[in-house]
Amino acid sequence: MTTSLTLRRPDDWHLHLRDGAILRAVLPESARHFARAIIMPNLVPPVVTARDARAYRDRILAALPKEMTFTPLMTLYLTEETDPADVAHAHASGLVTAVKLYPAGATTNSASGVRDVDRVRGVLEKMAEIGLPLCVHGEVTDAHIDIFDREAVFIDRVLDPVRRATPGLRVVMEHVTTRDAVDYVTSQPRDLGATITTHHMVINRNHILVGGIKPHYYCLPVAKREDHRLALRAAATSGDPRFFLGTDSAPHADPAKESACGCAGCFTAPHTLSILAHVFEDEDALDRLETFTSLNGPAFYGLAPNDTTLTLTKGDAVRYPERIETGDGPVTLFDPGFPLHWHVT
Ligand code: NCD
Ligand code: ZN
Repeated sequence: MTTSLTLRRPDDWHLHLRDGAILRAVLPESARHFARAIIMPNLVPPVVTARDARAYRDRILAALPKEMTFTPLMTLYLTEETDPADVAHAHASGLVTAVKLYPAGATTNSASGVRDVDRVRGVLEKMAEIGLPLCVHGEVTDAHIDIFDREAVFIDRVLDPVRRATPGLRVVMEHVTTRDAVDYVTSQPRDLGATITTHHMVINRNHILVGGIKPHYYCLPVAKREDHRLALRAAATSGDPRFFLGTDSAPHADPAKESACGCAGCFTAPHTLSILAHVFEDEDALDRLETFTSLNGPAFYGLAPNDTTLTLTKGDAVRYPERIETGDGPVTLFDPGFPLHWHVT
């Protein structure tokens, strides 16, 4: 039985750090374990221009405790007004690693997102030309499409047509939640990858709804049926280079989640690696954990893997707080529903 595992230091290819007091409270939770993370730009107001991204990066670095090292990989929030030249300039200066497409209204703070992809063609073509990846929140927003079908419909109606119309555009389908998405990604030989979250490998839609509504399990895209959870676990543990970790750790203060209209997002940064080790061990794939957390992501983004390491050891139950305090109120951690035994040492 394996009881110790040393990995190249992991990266998080999809992370929400927020701003202000929450940023200060959650940043160390990621920086403790991850060397780099793709930072989501859905602040209020969003991180739209190179200038916004530079200012946000400075705020993140200023919030980082002195004894920690962490590299925020910045993204720009794509709007119908985004200027292709600003994007190209931000990329050339090394400031941004990706651009994020939110369909308007699809998720938290996405109101300034894209309503009509025809209006961002110029940006997408520029990105294909310069090799800047597009991270996509893959859900349609049409009121008449069932929320559990929105990812699968997005692939057919938006993602596949956009990729066909923009050859060479490198796309990351963020936080995939369905077997349909896994199948689509594996059917594409090039220019497409996908992030998978920790929580979508642990919960299905019953966790949210059975025995009372559980707001801390509500996130977007919403967790689907069990069959989809199993497809995500199989993809993540397969070693297929197209799949890599993006925790989508998305803190909201508890009153905003425990509400008649609760916010979407699961906060997993503090114990994500302990949960992942548990999942990979369950799937008899501990030897592929490093591939998922530390190798496939950098390879997709054309970056070198980290040269430092992190060790996980198996022992007594890991103790972690139920919630962390922030200057903006408490934030409850995701409850995996089983004891964790893998410690980050
Ligand atoms: C994210 C957030 O809160 O910003 N919420 C979530 O449920 N994942 C937004 C997102 O990634 O969709
Ligand atoms: Zn997210």
